[in-house]
Amino acid sequence: TEINLPEIRDVLVSLAFEAGRMILNANPSATAADTKLNAVDIVTETDKAVETLISTKLTSLYPSFSFIGEETYVKGQTTVTDSPTFIVDPIDGTQNFVHGFPHACVSLGFTLGKAPSVGVVYNPFLDIIYTAVKGQGAYMQRNASSPVNPGEKQRLPLNGGKGKLNQLKNSLVAFEGGSQRDGENFEIKMKAFRNLLSAEKGMVGGFRSLGSSALNICGVAAGQLDLYWEGGCYAWDVAAGWCILEEAGGKMYGGNRGVWEPELDSRKYLCVRGSPENEGQEEIVEEFWGLLEGDM
Ligand code: IPD
Repeated sequence: TEINLPEIRDVLVSLAFEAGRMILNANPSATAADTKLNAVDIVTETDKAVETLISTKLTSLYPSFSFIGEETYVKGQTTVTDSPTFIVDPIDGTQNFVHGFPHACVSLGFTLGKAPSVGVVYNPFLDIIYTAVKGQGAYMQRNASSPVNPGEKQRLPLNGGKGKLNQLKNSLVAFEGGSQRDGENFEIKMKAFRNLLSAEKGMVGGFRSLGSSALNICGVAAGQLDLYWEGGCYAWDVAAGWCILEEAGGKMYGGNRGVWEPELDSRKYLCVRGSPENEGQEEIVEEFWGLLEGDM
């Protein structure tokens, strides 16, 4: 049977609202959170409960599809395959969530043959949703869950985009420190931050580290950010955003030099906003890579 992508989007949107209500009703505490990789890589009871809600619904509606979730991922065992797959992060931005910083989201992706084909990213604190279906454009909606006064769906990039991508200078760049805080990967990031900010090299307009990969990607898709560089997140952080980004005319490159076509689980990404006829996209990527002092 044929897979109905708009129907999957609609299912994911209503699940995102349900998950959003759970997130808003939770009362997380930073101290009660469990840790994964280290003290900053945390997971709360809410992350687990939201993932259970989502996986239960999706596996009962689509029993033949695969499901990958952040909290049920098994290192070395869970891999992204060609089969129809839901790739889910119940709460992207868990540090923000436990601190009450209103920048966290539910990230619901769907892939076919490893290609991001549906993306739904919902920030319940701001009630903003981003959605995309492959081949059908990307949208953002404010007051998204309001039954009385939902906002209009705005096509991404907002206002038709920001035009040609110029040089790195003055561009607005998102990055995340990630949970790995030592080793070579960490050193390369620190050197890159210096090069990007410095007057004689990148002189970027600003660096933003807001704590949610999925929302960073949506910011690039919307044209509010020019670039987002990441060296350590996972498929569930990017699967939904990737579809939204591409449908908004943006493109995902690799976080390391020379990686023009990253995979879903490459873990290192550089996403670039759309521009008319993709003008300047590859140039700005090469300029960015040129400031890296090694591979992560
Ligand atoms: C984290 C966020 C963060 C990124 C980390 C992710 P989580 O996701 O997306 O921006 O830098 O690598 O682990 O743990 O809050 O779902």
